[in-house]
Amino acid sequence: MCGIVGYLGEKEKKEILIEGLGELEYRGYDSAGIAVMAGEELRHFKAVGKLENLKRKAENFESEGYGVAIGHTRWATHGKPTELNAHPHSGAFSYVVHNGIIENYQQIRERLEKEGVNFLSQTDTETIVHLFEYAIKRGMDPHEAFVETIGELEGAFAILLISRAEPEKIFFAKNGSPLLIATDGEDIYFASSDTAVIGRAKEAYYLEDGEYGWAERGRLAIFREKEMVEAHFKNLPSDKAMARKEGYRFFMEKEIYEQSRVIADTMLGRVLDEGIFFEELEESFFDGIENIEICACGTSYHSALAASYLFERVAKIECRVEIASEFRYKEPLLSKRTLFITISQSGETADTLEALKMAKKSGLKTLSICNVDNSSIVRLSDATLLTRAGIEKGVASTKAFATQMMVLWMLVLYLAKRRGAIEACRLEEELEAMRKAPKVLMVAESLHQRIHRLSKRYLHGHGFFYIGRDLFYPLALEGALKLKEISYLHAEGYPAGEMKHGPIALADSELFTIALMPSSVLYEKMRSNVEELSARDATILAISPERFDIADDFIETRYSEHPMLEFFEMMVVTQLLALEISVRLGNDVDMPRNLAKSVTVE
Ligand code: G6P
Repeated sequence: MCGIVGYLGEKEKKEILIEGLGELEYRGYDSAGIAVMAGEELRHFKAVGKLENLKRKAENFESEGYGVAIGHTRWATHGKPTELNAHPHSGAFSYVVHNGIIENYQQIRERLEKEGVNFLSQTDTETIVHLFEYAIKRGMDPHEAFVETIGELEGAFAILLISRAEPEKIFFAKNGSPLLIATDGEDIYFASSDTAVIGRAKEAYYLEDGEYGWAERGRLAIFREKEMVEAHFKNLPSDKAMARKEGYRFFMEKEIYEQSRVIADTMLGRVLDEGIFFEELEESFFDGIENIEICACGTSYHSALAASYLFERVAKIECRVEIASEFRYKEPLLSKRTLFITISQSGETADTLEALKMAKKSGLKTLSICNVDNSSIVRLSDATLLTRAGIEKGVASTKAFATQMMVLWMLVLYLAKRRGAIEACRLEEELEAMRKAPKVLMVAESLHQRIHRLSKRYLHGHGFFYIGRDLFYPLALEGALKLKEISYLHAEGYPAGEMKHGPIALADSELFTIALMPSSVLYEKMRSNVEELSARDATILAISPERFDIADDFIETRYSEHPMLEFFEMMVVTQLLALEISVRLGNDVDMPRNLAKSVTVE
């Protein structure tokens, strides 16, 4: 999804912008651009496709001395991914970059066109810069013009604007899309995510919805409803190395291998001898809670679905799970006795955020499970459990999913104990299994090699079915999602027991079935379901600790003592399988076509 960076200072502006945009690449984009004002000179460069193209275009450009600069990576929403539609958008003397969607842009555009304003692009964003300049033409000073402009906008936005009318300032505004201001003590940086400024800036202020203002050398003015706001800056981590590939071919591969380590981080200080402890949660937080509703999107939805089995089975608490975009418009019946949980890697997913707002409006207690501290979802929730996965760069989520599952498993045990739903010896067994998870998640070289070899047999066919039962059904959904995201092959996750009610009609030797066959959960049932498919000549790849003769291919797993350990081990297998198939097909594993890492529009 779109990324924003801004810079105000003496350093080489082009480099800072392009470097910052590079750090946001993982979010997905289809064009990019920068605008730089140094002295009287206001220049811009735009290019379709990768940042390399932009770099080439701006190759001979250098700016000296103090100046202001803004940059953007665009993920097309209104208008095709063309150079004309790429940001920054300009008027006669100003440039703007914008994330989000201006919902009333058509009305504004028609009005301005009647006044003789000429539009070049098909974007909603261009209306912003014209509104601003039109206000100046009507005699307003740039500050008034900016306030007037954002006052007219409906929808979600994070905006940076520079103008020859006020050449030493960057104007900014935030409403519904993330934006932060950062500093190294000297210069000022802007970004839609702190990833873009880590390593350069030392501290950041995360703007709240409704905040706007302007920055110039040595001065920052932030307002909310015309009142000046005091910015409380927070320290940023300095560790940029975390965000690099460290010798792996792809970020996704690195992140798969990291899972063992980050899951240990997730557990740190939380898995104690007597049970689970969450520093972030008051004991009383769950008072009066009778059931759970979870909302999420994509991979996070799959972790929610898997957890719902555990909440009901182990913690004996009713749990409903909804895709956030469905929840928003179904006019759901909400009760104050429900704990509303949102799960999100980024903490910025628009549908999940809106679902959270709805729950808050209805007076529900809210808890988020999130990977990004200070993200919109975290800030809005009553309480948060951070997943501690570290920055996840691969668009296809891996370690974020693993850590979400771990936090959810911990939360299940925490609630089970609190509700008296689990016996002491059973809790002990669960904790013992939990402590083994980092080991289970270690990637054995031999396993990766085997999957690499097998992958060559799975590059064609008319489709993949990932099947599983119980907890392993959501894992099948996630396995199929991983494959389709990065291989562009058609894959579906299905509850194994449901195959005979339709999908089995597709079975022939060109239908690839990836069967998740844990020995600790419904093994015999699963076996019969796979036999039914095999009898119809489907090609079967079985993943199981039990040898299974009728499978065409077999990946043997090692840990069978606990469903969650089997879950984690099979999760790694499905991730590696998707990775290796995608590599063989020559795809861009980290930045698959049409996808965005953080989806900040509905
Ligand atoms: C996008 C990403 C997915 C992610 C989903 C939800 O579609 O490509 O990987 O699962 O958004 O994102 P969230 O940040 O809320 O977990």
